Amino acid sequence: MYAERVLSGMRPTGSLHLGHYHGVLKNWIELQHEYPCLFFVADWHALTTQYDNPQGIEKASMDMVVDWLAAGVDPNQATLFVQSRVPEHAELHLLMSMMTPLSWLERVPTYKDQQEKLAGKDLTTYGFLGYPLLMSADILIYRADKVPVGEDQIPHVEFTRELARRFNHMYGREPGFEDKAREAVKKLGSKKARLYEEMRTRFQQNGDRDAIEQAKAVLDEVQHLSMADRERLFGYLEGTGKMILVEPGYLLTEASKMPGLDGQKMSKSYNNTITMRESEESVTKKVRSMPTDPARVRRTDPGEPAKCPVWQLHLVYSNDACKEWVQQGCRTAGIGCIECKQPVIDAILKEQAPMRERAQVYLDDPTLVKNIIADGCEKAREYARETMRDVREAMGLEYH
Ligand code: TRP
Ligand code: SF4
Repeated sequence: MYAERVLSGMRPTGSLHLGHYHGVLKNWIELQHEYPCLFFVADWHALTTQYDNPQGIEKASMDMVVDWLAAGVDPNQATLFVQSRVPEHAELHLLMSMMTPLSWLERVPTYKDQQEKLAGKDLTTYGFLGYPLLMSADILIYRADKVPVGEDQIPHVEFTRELARRFNHMYGREPGFEDKAREAVKKLGSKKARLYEEMRTRFQQNGDRDAIEQAKAVLDEVQHLSMADRERLFGYLEGTGKMILVEPGYLLTEASKMPGLDGQKMSKSYNNTITMRESEESVTKKVRSMPTDPARVRRTDPGEPAKCPVWQLHLVYSNDACKEWVQQGCRTAGIGCIECKQPVIDAILKEQAPMRERAQVYLDDPTLVKNIIADGCEKAREYARETMRDVREAMGLEYH
């Protein structure tokens, strides 16, 4: 049922690192078993800040999708696609731009934040201001009701909710709504239609919310209804117009606690990352050269794990026995730092092994990735076209 649809997008930043894996992808992998999921490469979003150098975006997108697949995102369970290959996003963005107050866009916190953060770049562009609107179009076009996002993106989802409400309020009263709704009731079959009518009367005469829930349960059982009819029947129940766009909810993704090589959060901009498919030699070298507690100048100097970035990685990767060994060994100078780092290296390599293996298939035959994306785009477009039909109709732009 579409109301359970999960949608999330990621900007193509090229090869992903273990912070992305622990922070986002593990979550996607869980979700794909629970809901129909749509995951997409937000390549147009990359252009909002990278408009002066778009050449690398395509390669970065493909590399990123390989990382998704390597992590275990399963194209048989989730729909994977590229935003710019589903041009309906742009059409919805354009139509909504007509009714989006400028002040709403200027108020989105990331607008000023990002401009300050990327001070060297001219972000006084139309596209950058409209970025939250583009994200709204991404979400609304799939009528997604669960959007996994990090905390910084929550204002964007709220903005999307407000826009959906504004849109439905403005355009939700389609001409001939009552007639179309009554036609849709007939399509339920006589028994279910009678139940539905009964519940509708109970709600409209007595305000009985239970009746609404029961009627919705009846509608959920009916498989053959079109999305448009389903929406009409929801609207007709409560006496409102037609709900054309669905107000999304979000699923908060915990901020990644994955520490980088220097103890700060792992991030490309801090240059402290291990990529998901980094070579074994490079992982080993990087961890071996990690800074440790500065008090351990000599092997015989005791140290304190709390002051050491390597300990942060033990917290992610090591079991209790190993952690005990580190604490004890570090504080008594019983173990050396190279020794202490080895279990971390081993754990990372172990985590990466299945990723490398899965990725190899796609590296050997890149057309596999292309096909996955092409299939995903086709599927995504079917949903997107359906929404656009309703949107055009609601706005009187059908031209048939
Ligand atoms: N704006 C998101 C980011 O920068 C990416 C994104 C674009 C997105 N469209 C989306 C996320 C739709 C969730 C849903 O991280
Ligand atoms: Fe860090 Fe381990 Fe060395 Fe202690 S022994 S300083 S925890 S690397």
